[in-house]
Amino acid sequence: MIHDILSENVRKEIDSIRSKFPHDKNKSSIIESLLIIQHENSGYLNEELIGALAEYLNVQKIDVYEVATFYSMFNLKPIGKNTISVCTNVSCMLRNSDQIVEYIEKKLKIKIGESTKDNKFYLKDEMECLAACNGAPMMQVNHVNYENLTFEKIDKILDGIKDD
Ligand code: FES
Repeated sequence: MIHDILSENVRKEIDSIRSKFPHDKNKSSIIESLLIIQHENSGYLNEELIGALAEYLNVQKIDVYEVATFYSMFNLKPIGKNTISVCTNVSCMLRNSDQIVEYIEKKLKIKIGESTKDNKFYLKDEMECLAACNGAPMMQVNHVNYENLTFEKIDKILDGIKDD
C-alpha cells in the first residue's frame, strides 16, 4: 500500500510541491519529492520508494528512476550519517584534491563511495565543481563548504563532528 510506504507527512509535502505546477505536469515535482523522501529515509532511496512516488504522482516508474539515478544528490543505497563530498574538478585538482581524497580515505579507512563501519561518515563519489574554486581545494560535509583544505583542517572538521 502506497500509504504504508510514504508517510502522511511526506505525502503532505509532496502535495504542496505538486500544487505549484499545472495538473498535467506532475513530472516537475519529481526532484523535490525525491529529496523529501530521501531525507525521511535516512539519506537514501530504494526501489520501493521510487515506485511509490511514481504511483503517487501518477507518472511512469522509469521517469522517477531516471531522475534518481541521474542526479548526484540522490543515493540508492544506505549511507553513513554525514556525507563528505570532495571536489576533484580542475581548480581543486591543481591544488592537490587527489591527496585530500587519499588522506580522508586513509583517515576513515574507507574508499570513495563507502561508509565507515560505525556509519558515521559516507565518502561520496568524487564531485564535479562545487562552485567554490577560489577556496580550492575544498569539500562539503553535509552540504556545508570547507575551503583551502589542509590535512590539519580536515582532522579538525571531521573530528569535530559529534556522534548523535
Ligand atoms: S573546481 Fe573545485 S570548487 Fe570549482
